Amino acid sequence: MTEKKTWSDRFETSLHPAIAIFNASIGFDIELIEYDLTGSIAHAQMLAHTGIITTAEAEQLVTGLEQIRQEYRSGNFNPGVDAEDVHFAVERRLTEIVGDVGKKLHTGRSRNDQVGTDIRLYLREQINQIRHQLREFQTVLLEHAENHVETLIPGYTHLQRAQPLSLAHHLMAYWQMAQRDWSRLGDIYQRTNVSPLGCGALAGTTFPIDRKYSAALLDFTDIYENSLDGVSDRDFAIEFLCAASLIMVHLSRLSEEIILWASQEFNFVTLKDSCATGSSIMPQKKNPDVPELVRGKTGRVFGHLQALLVIMKGLPLAYNKDLQEDKEAIFDGVNTVKACLEAMTILLSEGLEFCPVRLATAVSEDFSNATDVADYLAAKGVPFREAYNLVGKVVKTSLDAGKLLKDLTLEEWQQIHPAFEEDIYVAIAPRQVVAARNSYGGTGFEQVRQAINRAKSELKST
Ligand code: ARG
Repeated sequence: MTEKKTWSDRFETSLHPAIAIFNASIGFDIELIEYDLTGSIAHAQMLAHTGIITTAEAEQLVTGLEQIRQEYRSGNFNPGVDAEDVHFAVERRLTEIVGDVGKKLHTGRSRNDQVGTDIRLYLREQINQIRHQLREFQTVLLEHAENHVETLIPGYTHLQRAQPLSLAHHLMAYWQMAQRDWSRLGDIYQRTNVSPLGCGALAGTTFPIDRKYSAALLDFTDIYENSLDGVSDRDFAIEFLCAASLIMVHLSRLSEEIILWASQEFNFVTLKDSCATGSSIMPQKKNPDVPELVRGKTGRVFGHLQALLVIMKGLPLAYNKDLQEDKEAIFDGVNTVKACLEAMTILLSEGLEFCPVRLATAVSEDFSNATDVADYLAAKGVPFREAYNLVGKVVKTSLDAGKLLKDLTLEEWQQIHPAFEEDIYVAIAPRQVVAARNSYGGTGFEQVRQAINRAKSELKST
């Protein structure tokens, strides 16, 4: 396995077999092969464009590289540990296919700028896919929101009943989080889409390469200004994992709510069989595995962010082999976010149903209309703080009497304060409580409808 040395004759013996395995990244960086081929094709074309190799040679290289692509796609390219990494594997196979001209491909570049190019090509494609998935997730949230403008749900602070909400308003909060995620990834795309190709090992190259030419072939919008920075920058990957972590934070919070809502204590949603699992021993159970897994997988993505930050923090310029450790963090971060977005989108679109009857009961069985009583008095000229204290007393006496505010008689109200009139009952009905919060961005039905319309035009316009 270690007979053949990959590098120069400076080395007299080959790697210890265990060290060869330890050193190799082919086991995971094969994920980059399509991007490696695309990057190498652009590099070969640039070499011909600048006259460093002939057009005929570049054509041979490109044909060989495309053949490797076909071999890989048909399952016939499976390099082993002896190849060390995807870059060596491709170069070796290329030379087998096209002969000695294959050895010209690496002119004017290094694996350091090559791997940097590959990850950026990979990540920008993944960013686009994740942004697309976010749009699908938002679309499903919006559909639920449209169906549930008039459905009420208790709103909580400190997980204590606070004020009732339009269910659509609650769901649209997640829509907004996803909107920031979508926009954040758009920003990160800009900084990912910069070409390090041609930075060489660290210092540039002696060949008269044209970095802008290869960058344009690869649709990069910019090139790195400084070769040392170009080969050792992983800011874009850290930014990506940070954005990925925030997506997971948002999905995890929604997951936590769905888990609570599906409990018998809340009973706000029922999970459909297609997205819930049973227990091996308790036949009555239906478990919310999907949101639980999403909540659990959040930790992995945070871990990858942390790993990459720590990998970077002590690295002197420029490339260090530590950077090989970036890949599994990035790949698993990407795969986890994609899997979670897909699962949550399916869960929302066909895996759960809200229980309107239970929700209607829930919003009318508590004191979450107490603020509205205080607001009622304040609107009649009672200073708010005084009204607040009065209502506190009412809540206390009602609790003692086992009553809700709606059960108090007009006489009882008027004993509390003469300003109460018959219209207090309308003011504290849950639907009115929600409707009245008509301030911009509030839960009032009118506001929620407007928010939905704005969200719809945002989805249409991008
Ligand atoms: N497999 C390496 C990586 O993933 C490729 C770059 C190797 N560069 C080097 N100077 N050894 O980072």
